[in-house]
Amino acid sequence: MTQTIPAPFPALRLRRTRATAWSRAMHRETVLTPADLIWPLFITEGQGVEEPIASLPGVSRWSVDGIVARAKEAVALGIPCLALFPNTQPERRSEDAREALNPDNLMCRAIRAIKDACGETIGLLTDVALDPYTSHGQDGLIDEAGYVLNDATVEMLVGQSLNQAAAGADIIAPSDMMDGRIALIRAALEGDGHHNAQIMSYAAKYASAFYGPFRDAVGSRGLLKGNKKTYQMDPANAEEALREVAIDLAEGADSVMVKPGLPYLDIARRVKDQFGVPVYAYQVSGEYAMIEAVVAAGGGERDALVLETLLAFKRAGCSGVLTYHAAHAARLMGA
Ligand code: PBG
Repeated sequence: MTQTIPAPFPALRLRRTRATAWSRAMHRETVLTPADLIWPLFITEGQGVEEPIASLPGVSRWSVDGIVARAKEAVALGIPCLALFPNTQPERRSEDAREALNPDNLMCRAIRAIKDACGETIGLLTDVALDPYTSHGQDGLIDEAGYVLNDATVEMLVGQSLNQAAAGADIIAPSDMMDGRIALIRAALEGDGHHNAQIMSYAAKYASAFYGPFRDAVGSRGLLKGNKKTYQMDPANAEEALREVAIDLAEGADSVMVKPGLPYLDIARRVKDQFGVPVYAYQVSGEYAMIEAVVAAGGGERDALVLETLLAFKRAGCSGVLTYHAAHAARLMGA
């Protein structure tokens, strides 16, 4: 698209269309609605339990009953989808992450409870990766040297995906960054009759410093030794992100995700321009915490910061965004 300047100043004054609220509304290029939001929620054991997460002020882990209440809240607000993450009890974490395959694990119980209460009024996107289940906090199975094994991990991820789909998950979302997992998960879902279970691939997920509060939320921070750089991407790379996306689409991903969000908007835009597929961004825990920190320090206004950052994802070409501010933002939009 080329932009021509039809007339020189003062025939042309771009401030004319900005002069009044009605005109600004009329010329607005991008809109944000509650339907653009996916709300990540953390699940914990028990009944009537709410555990605030210190590094994510305003965000709590909820027991399954509380998660169901949040799901009803989301429906009322017009939020179409939840992203679920379990905080597995320490005694259920192990080297082999076998709890990921338990049909009665926390994730599956939450899925069933929400589906019982809300049916098809809300979508459930479920995280596929082993970090909430491993005793070492890595997203996969490790060898003696601590290296995350690709193919053995993928085998587990396939089982985990089938387990979640059987419980009623709508969108399987592998966040692990193993090679080849989308094809095998897709084939297994088809084989099991889950033809309409979508896959949203965390296709371009970076080894980021912005995940700290999330690791507190799922209880893996204290367990994790080292980092995730042998599978998550180098923040320096963009061309490689396009390859990751191309591969995941070829393997059968229905939509792709870029993660983190704001620091990687250039990646979201390039993916959208190059592939024209549904792209989602994850405004991750550290990004949420940054907004809350500047608000707490008196350096900015929460409502405006939230809406501006979320709008930026739409402007960059995203179909939607995973954000811990989802309910607040939907309320601000007057849903
Ligand atoms: C791990 C996973 C992470 C997030 C989502 N899934 C953290 C990590 O890769 O260590 C981060 C989300 C956030 O920071 O909000 N499978």
